Amino acid sequence: MPRRRDLLLGAAAALAAPAAARAADGLRGVAAARGIRFGLAVQGDALVNDPRAAAAVAAEAAVLVPEGGGKWLALRPEEGVYDFSELDAIIAFAARHGQTVRGHTLLWHAAMEDWTLAALKEGAARGRPLLEAHFDRVLAHTALAIRDWDVANEAVADPRDSADLLRKSPWLESLGPDYLDLAFRAARQRDAGLALTYNDYGCEQDTPVDDEKRRRVLALVRGMRDRGVPIDAVGIQGHLRLGDPFSAPKLAAFVRSLRDLGLRVLVTELDMIEDELRSDAAERDARSAALVHAFVSTVLEGGGDAVLCWGVTDPHSWIGREPGYPALVSGLPARPLPLDAEYRRKPMWHALARAFEGRPWP
Ligand code: G3I
Repeated sequence: MPRRRDLLLGAAAALAAPAAARAADGLRGVAAARGIRFGLAVQGDALVNDPRAAAAVAAEAAVLVPEGGGKWLALRPEEGVYDFSELDAIIAFAARHGQTVRGHTLLWHAAMEDWTLAALKEGAARGRPLLEAHFDRVLAHTALAIRDWDVANEAVADPRDSADLLRKSPWLESLGPDYLDLAFRAARQRDAGLALTYNDYGCEQDTPVDDEKRRRVLALVRGMRDRGVPIDAVGIQGHLRLGDPFSAPKLAAFVRSLRDLGLRVLVTELDMIEDELRSDAAERDARSAALVHAFVSTVLEGGGDAVLCWGVTDPHSWIGREPGYPALVSGLPARPLPLDAEYRRKPMWHALARAFEGRPWP
């Protein structure tokens, strides 16, 4: 009969072995073995100027999404001018590394130059041709490389801000409440085989605000389905909040409702907002890994087929660059992503691997 110590060592080796065997292929390989696509949000300049980041992206990701390069701010610096430089750099990198690219985002309330906002203020007669021309040019330019676009991002109102279904976006104010129907139809008209995704945050956890956001997103996409508006997928962003509770049954019910509408479901922007959690890095990492594992497993068990993290390593994250999301959590650097500043695999990396393999955590 094996001794207890041998059993413990054996269990430790079993935990470590798959990670060692996978060292060469990264999460993209672990996920692909189970028919799941894993990806990362990237900035074009990091891929071009930072060899370490580029190597990690090549090893870990099967799918790339431009963190900013597909937004109006990047693509439309001036009226009549299109700048595809960042997007093209990402597309070229992906082609060299056997990766696909998903598009983010044809419409959003943020990341637009002043000229765009001023034009939208003039109303539908100006806004509609602007949208149509953007879709014409951008979808034609990316048709070969990008087969899945976020047609609209965060169009549903945040329940903390408004009781309305739709956010008071410059697009809503310019084009009226059917602007999403118009946009999804415009995308389908221009490219019949393109996967059309609606992407949003705040549907992940177990707070009254998440409950209401899930209800609103479902109402939006169900309404689109009822009206015959083309939509193929819903992206659950996955900016998880470590301080908030999580309910697998609630998330599973949401995913099931989306799947029952015939929609694909994917996780598009996974990372961890650690709030003001007063604990050391090891404890935060352990809690983050457990939450990521529970969240990702629930989506995958419900039929989700892709998971993308929003950045390459902790210091690449948007957390720390935007007001309200400080770079320091209780005096320690934020740790939102699976790789740390030294490109070491954190517990979150291993939690993702185990979720992809359908194994429990830890
Ligand atoms: O590139 C410029 C740089 O030249 C300049 O010196 C610097 C000064 O502020 O700004 C840099 O641009 C920043 C850009 O990120 C690149 O880092 C912008 O200010 C900043 O606003 C922009 O933030 C992005 C934000 O969306 C707004 O577009 C974040 O990187 C990006 O992670 C974030 O992504 C969003 C998703 O699209 C939707 N879901 C939420 C998510 C996080 O907010």
